[in-house]
Amino acid sequence: MSNTKINEILHRVKSFPSMPGAGVKMLSLLEGLDTTVTEIEEILRYDPGLTANVLKLANSAYFGVPSKIGSLNQAVILLGVKRLIQLVVASCVSSIMDKSVAGYDWPSGNLWRHSIAVSIASEALVKGKKRVKTEDVFTPALLHDVGKLVLGSFVDQELEAIHTLAAKGIPFVVAENMILGTDHAEIGARILANWNLPAEVINAVRWHHDPDSPDASSMQMDVIYLANILCQTPDTSGPDAGHAVELSPAVIDRLGIQLDQFESISEKVAHWVDELSNALAFS
Ligand SMILES: [Fe+2]
Ligand SMILES: [Fe+2]
Repeated sequence: MSNTKINEILHRVKSFPSMPGAGVKMLSLLEGLDTTVTEIEEILRYDPGLTANVLKLANSAYFGVPSKIGSLNQAVILLGVKRLIQLVVASCVSSIMDKSVAGYDWPSGNLWRHSIAVSIASEALVKGKKRVKTEDVFTPALLHDVGKLVLGSFVDQELEAIHTLAAKGIPFVVAENMILGTDHAEIGARILANWNLPAEVINAVRWHHDPDSPDASSMQMDVIYLANILCQTPDTSGPDAGHAVELSPAVIDRLGIQLDQFESISEKVAHWVDELSNALAFS
């Protein structure tokens, strides 16, 4: 692929919508260990719509809070600061990620539903694990395919060439890279770097199709990779089908997952995805 095309793709990354103001500020809190509810309230006080959406989410049965949450203060007490920040970030990106995705044949809403499904599956995979917590996987899982929003139109222009390679058994993401010189995982990582997300979130997104790369080295990456494969539905099978059969034995080994756990995780995902995607689809 010519340098001109790569430059065009990178230029598109730069002009990709930025995270709304409150989201950027909340992300800067994500790395702090001592964030207080007052700091969160201070950021959200000028955005009642966003606060309302966050509370709607916080009250989703998925998060398992038995009583109704009516304020940010209560949300922090019942869910914790980290979870609350995740919910604000999710609310901020929902409008961007609810779009249709050219090139991958996803109508509006599919990327959002798939992303939510991968978040739920990731949390289910790490439940009870000591080395990684559920709160560490929600955000990278939610954002893992954001690069498709930029790369989709370029994939669309080269669809025949990419499909020809994919038909030979080459994973779609590899074919993407062979034809375009980059892929949606790399582009997603660049978008998240522009949004100033923490390095571990960026890296988990960067390697979500390639956990055996020498540069991929965290359990978070393994989890997002595996959850993404578990969440290949008929809707997502086209462009991603190639890698679905190439389950990395090293990842299974590192995570200590038994293959028979997959079925119950898939059932959990199916149970929660409607509820959570509806709660998060604020548009
Ligand atoms: Fe992907
Ligand atoms: Fe995906």
